[in-house]
Order: sequence, then structure tokens, then C-alpha cells
Amino acid sequence: MFIGPYLVLEPKFAFVLEGPNGVAGYVMGALDTPDFYRRMERDWLAKIRTRVKNPGDDESHWTGSDWVRRLIHRPPYLYPPALHPYPSHGHVDFLPEARGLGWGRRGFEHLMQALSDAGSPGMHLDVSPHNHSAIAFYEKLGFAPVNSDELPPGGLTMARRF
Ligand SMILES: CC(C)(COP(=O)(O)OP(=O)(O)OC[C@H]1O[C@@H](n2cnc3c(N)ncnc32)[C@H](O)[C@@H]1OP(=O)(O)O)[C@@H](O)C(=O)NCCC(=O)NCCS
Repeated sequence: MFIGPYLVLEPKFAFVLEGPNGVAGYVMGALDTPDFYRRMERDWLAKIRTRVKNPGDDESHWTGSDWVRRLIHRPPYLYPPALHPYPSHGHVDFLPEARGLGWGRRGFEHLMQALSDAGSPGMHLDVSPHNHSAIAFYEKLGFAPVNSDELPPGGLTMARRF
């Protein structure tokens, strides 16, 4: 859901950070979110679904990673008009050993530059409202919450123009 389709479908916007112990993090993005979601559905999830059991809608029966198995079978594909000024989106994740050293900023700025160079006017991303350190990080990089009724309650989407 969060790495494979980006590597395969959007390799120009997938970067890793290498450290002394190997890969220590990644930044990945999609230039044109609706186009990416169309290709993700057709060229990625349709094949994976045949191998992954659908755990159903009743969360009380979910175990382990069923939450992501559910996403594979029913992805949110969220791109309401409120996000259209920010058509790209991205993900970032660094191992603890690589955090707090400025690599997150360098990595994400590298991704934003690549998206901007390819013609994108802006990007959005989803973050857990409980992930206070990631929210602080994104704010430092110029992202602000998108307040819109078109987005699901309980989530947090942040965005910025380039
Ligand atoms: C969030 C994450 C990518 C940040 O990367 P990082 O390398 O630790 O961040 P940096 O050291 O480059 O910091 C960049 C800026 O963010 C600020 N920042 C980072 N973490 C912060 C925190 N917890 N509180 C306040 N500010 C923070 C830094 O002070 C820095 O500010 P400056 O550049 O203006 O001096 C990284 O911590 C991470 O991978 N976390 C776990 C995965 C995750 O939560 N991913 C996001 C999922 S949506």
C-alpha cells in the first residue's frame, strides 16, 4: 500500500537514504494523485487482492495486519476538490537511527523539488492526528492542515504549494 506501488509505478519520485547499516529510510511520492490511484488500482492492487484475504468490514474481528488487508481490498482513494491545488502526494519514513539529524528535511525537500521540477504546483499528505512529531516536522517544512468537510472526520491531511 505505501511502498511497492510507488517504487513500481512512480520510480522517478522514490528515494532511499543509505546509512552505515544499509537503507535507513525513504521518501516517496506520486506526481498526479488521481492518475496514480487509477494505475495503482489496475496495475497493483488488482493483482495483490487475489493473494490477500479480505478481512471484512467488522473491525472487531480483525487481527494483526488486517487493517492493511482491508485497505488493499477497499482503498480510500481520497482526492476531493479541496486537494486539487495540491495534486501530488507523498510518504516519508526513517529508522530511529536516522531521525533528528536533518535527513528528513533534506529527503522531503529533495522529493518536493523533484515533483515541482516535473510541473506539480503542490502536494498533500495524510498523517495520524496522534503523530505529533511528524506534524511538527511537516509544519517546519511549510505544510498546513487542510480544513474541509470533504475530508473524513478524525483524520488529518496537510498540504503546501511549491
Ligand atoms: C517524521 C520524520 C520523517 C522526520 O525526519 P527527521 O530526519 O527526524 O527530521 P529532521 O531532523 O530533518 O527535522 C526537520 C525539521 O523538523 C523539526 N522536527 C522534527 N521532529 C520534530 C519534533 N518531534 N518536534 C518538533 N520539531 C521537529 C526539526 O526541528 C527540524 O526543524 P529545522 O529544520 O527547522 O531545524 C522522522 O522522524 C520519521 O521517519 N518518523 C517516523 C515515521 C513517521 O512518522 N513518518 C510520517 C508518517 S505520516
